[in-house]
Amino acid sequence: MSETPAAASAPQLEVPPDKRPRHIAVIMDGNGRWAQRRDLPRIEGHRRGVASVRRTVEECARLKIEQLTLYCLSSENWKRPQPELDFLMHLLEQYMIEERTVLMREQVRVSTIGRREGIPAAVQAEMDKTIELSSANDGLRLCLAINYGSRGEIVDAVRKLARRARDGQVDPDAIDEEDVASELYTAGMPDPDLLIRTAGELRISNFLLWQISYAEIWVTAKFWPEFAEPDLHQAIRDFAARDRRFGGLNE
Ligand code: IPE
Ligand code: IPE
Ligand code: MG
Repeated sequence: MSETPAAASAPQLEVPPDKRPRHIAVIMDGNGRWAQRRDLPRIEGHRRGVASVRRTVEECARLKIEQLTLYCLSSENWKRPQPELDFLMHLLEQYMIEERTVLMREQVRVSTIGRREGIPAAVQAEMDKTIELSSANDGLRLCLAINYGSRGEIVDAVRKLARRARDGQVDPDAIDEEDVASELYTAGMPDPDLLIRTAGELRISNFLLWQISYAEIWVTAKFWPEFAEPDLHQAIRDFAARDRRFGGLNE
């Protein structure tokens, strides 16, 4: 698989396709700090963060990465001031509308994970429109984690399994890892191979706890609005150089 000719002038990534991660997940952090360092309101950081989302999506599509999952809003982020949340909702709605053309051109297939509660109906409608419109695309799978919390996801999965057990559809003693995985929001997706976090924090913040069991973690001090193609390339290069053992022994 080679990179698309449209971007022939773009920097080459010397990592062969079979050494690249299939699924990259990103904790996009540091928008507020980026803005504060410049004496700008935090929302300016979020606005600039959208440009990083655009760059990252397009570069992953160009590199033929199978899936990109972006942590856009955590279930804990509702603790933030209402004006910041309103602005994030506005950005999300705008992204869903404005990116449609590019997402279609790049054959990106959009999905979301997280609970829909709390997302304004108008934003949900635009999300659904983009998801529906892009559903037959066969390029990069872009999964947006919105009002997502991993513990909440696991609770939802446990509830579904418990209901099935109560109704006699599943034997509790026969429940295995695959059964649990298939009740998560991420059912059917490959687990992330590479987890990127910007802004230097060495924590997971309730993101994909089950799914990242064996993900390689890559942290940069750069704030999300500063994250660009060279950083993505470096993360992929470092990933390719890691020795993934999955608990076993490599020669
Ligand atoms: C990440 O940036 C975006 C969201 C969590 C929505 P932050 O807003 O967390 O930025 P910092 O961490 O305060 O700098
Ligand atoms: C994680 O960032 C959530 C998103 C990037 C959407 P936070 O800024 O919310 O994480 P903490 O609070 O620093 O752990
Ligand atoms: Mg943060």
